[in-house]
Amino acid sequence: MEITLHAPLDMHLHLREGAMLQTVAPLSARDFAAAVVMPNLVPPVTSLERLLAYREAIVAAAQPHQFLPLMTLFFQDYDEASLRAARPHIIGVKLYPDGVTTNSAGGVSDLAAVEPTLALLERLAIPLLVHGESHGFVLDREAEFLPVYERWAQRFPQLTIVMEHITTAGALQLLQRYPNLAATVTLHHLLITLDDVAGGLLCPHLFCKPIAKRPEDREALLAAALAAQPRLMFGSDSAPHPVDRKEAAGCAAGVFTAPVILPLLVDLFARHHALERLQAFVSDNARAVYGFTPPAKPVTLRQEAWQVPARYGTVVPFYANQTLAWRVEVPRV
Ligand code: NCD
Ligand code: ZN
Repeated sequence: MEITLHAPLDMHLHLREGAMLQTVAPLSARDFAAAVVMPNLVPPVTSLERLLAYREAIVAAAQPHQFLPLMTLFFQDYDEASLRAARPHIIGVKLYPDGVTTNSAGGVSDLAAVEPTLALLERLAIPLLVHGESHGFVLDREAEFLPVYERWAQRFPQLTIVMEHITTAGALQLLQRYPNLAATVTLHHLLITLDDVAGGLLCPHLFCKPIAKRPEDREALLAAALAAQPRLMFGSDSAPHPVDRKEAAGCAAGVFTAPVILPLLVDLFARHHALERLQAFVSDNARAVYGFTPPAKPVTLRQEAWQVPARYGTVVPFYANQTLAWRVEVPRV
């Protein structure tokens, strides 16, 4: 059996720089037509010059695959001139509250103070992508941020606000209430709960921000994804860290899913008899939210078992050493 997806899109991806970029970029570039690339490098991507150089490095690392990096700027109080100059080169601006996740130092510390810049983004029709977590108790951080999303959705009705990597049923309910809200959901938050991370032996490779939540949250996210709920987009949040930063006291947050995303999504949708809605979830919903047409790129998966490697370079992937039922057909390039 075979399934072909048309221009699958990963709407939230970490590619890093240097040797890590060389390892991970071809994996996403083989399977996806385009991806929204996160700007949380060290230092973050805050200038057009750095953004264009990073884009060039990604395109080079993605060779020989056809792959469109959709670039983001790290949120700051940019002036109108710099946003106008950046606009043709970006898909959005990514806002991180200061210190909530990997490489988010220098993010926003006063959420009220950003509103003039949000007004500017709204006027320039530049989407705002948000890591929506408070600094509260780890399981409540997303829930505590929802009123912020709601305030912005009301105050900036023409601004597209993307709630990145949502993990709770509450976020899904908010999504339904405001047409200017959109959201991404990861593969791992459709599959795991906090029990998989810390319910038995501690599993550092499943530790990420936002932390995986309760079974009822996962059920709600899965139901929404399988239904290809409008404005809910696939965004992997694939976030590679070297094994010595994961298997460590002080484990870095991030799950590296890039090489197994499409096989696991096809398997998940097939098991729930929802394969006909996978195209909308991995591509069409994002096209509608962002109003863009990706380059044509058919990606075919075949029902054929393969074993996920233990490592890609220095990184341990999601489902390492496990056997998957679907394989991406390697394109002739
Ligand atoms: C991401 C990373 O490693 O850059 N980590 C994560 O746990 N998801 C950052 C992020 O998206 O929060
Ligand atoms: Zn991320």
